[in-house]
Amino acid sequence: MTTASVDRIEMGDLTCWSLSFNNSKLLIAEQGAQILRYENNGEPPIIWLSEHAEMKPGNSQRGGVPVCWPWFGDLLRNPDSVQAMHQQPQQAGAHGLVRSIDWALEGVEQREECASITFSYNSLEQPLAHWPHAAELILSVRLGERLSISLVCRNLGDQPLAFSQALHSYFAVSDINQVSVEGLQDCSYIETLEDWQARSQTGALHFSGETDRIYLNPPAKLQIIDPLWQRTINLLSTGSHSAVVWNPWIDKAQRLSQFDDAAWQQMLCIEHANVLDDAVTLAPATEHELALDIWVEHTLTSHPLV
Ligand code: BG6
Repeated sequence: MTTASVDRIEMGDLTCWSLSFNNSKLLIAEQGAQILRYENNGEPPIIWLSEHAEMKPGNSQRGGVPVCWPWFGDLLRNPDSVQAMHQQPQQAGAHGLVRSIDWALEGVEQREECASITFSYNSLEQPLAHWPHAAELILSVRLGERLSISLVCRNLGDQPLAFSQALHSYFAVSDINQVSVEGLQDCSYIETLEDWQARSQTGALHFSGETDRIYLNPPAKLQIIDPLWQRTINLLSTGSHSAVVWNPWIDKAQRLSQFDDAAWQQMLCIEHANVLDDAVTLAPATEHELALDIWVEHTLTSHPLV
């Protein structure tokens, strides 16, 4: 008996796909191959989507899992090899060029044990402005007991291909003041808010202000511990040796597009990435895969005796 399903739906001006498996649901847009929602029925969302997200062509939606490629963040903060791929690095916007263009649907599958969908982007068929290189991206998403995301980049050219990238995942949390991220203890990180100084994480990460850090060589498994919602979001990655942790906090929240002034309290980003020294250089005809599994465990809280 098939328990999984895949359906095409229109959301505002965007064509999206809705996947379901047992109690879990996923929504993904063709634009940017951007995951928009991931949730279990009757529970708070796992992936966060802004209530002000604009379902319009030409802009990435605030929330979900935007794909940042062929560079992450400010191009001028990237290694020289990544900057050199662009003809006008001074004019380049943040987070690359593929999060707001349409990707091609490669296929959908409905099976007993999962629903899956695959999108592709090919720079020979759909060239990028000021980035004249031959590459293909394949984003596959599989919804089963876990959500599994795979981003493959292939070098279709005859020269080395240098890029940085991230799965810019927004996670929903009950209250940013109460949650913590486990797994980063003792990791080195770059504090981008303090002149990109190198620091080291002491203990679990708690949030008490604007946070924008690049963790270097984090472990494969990270966890978002959410005591109020009595759950842990588990994240298991391969092909990534850098992770960006971001929360805009009060002031930056007011400057962000498609973002409610108070929304910083209910989200955080953990962006599995290949940035800085972890940027990728692919020889011709080779490929790189960045993969991320996401699943929730429910935790019991012990109530104090009254
Ligand atoms: C994060 C960066 O990855 O993305 C932040 O570390 C940035 O500095 C954030 O503000 C959002 O970027 P954008 O382009 O989606 O507004």
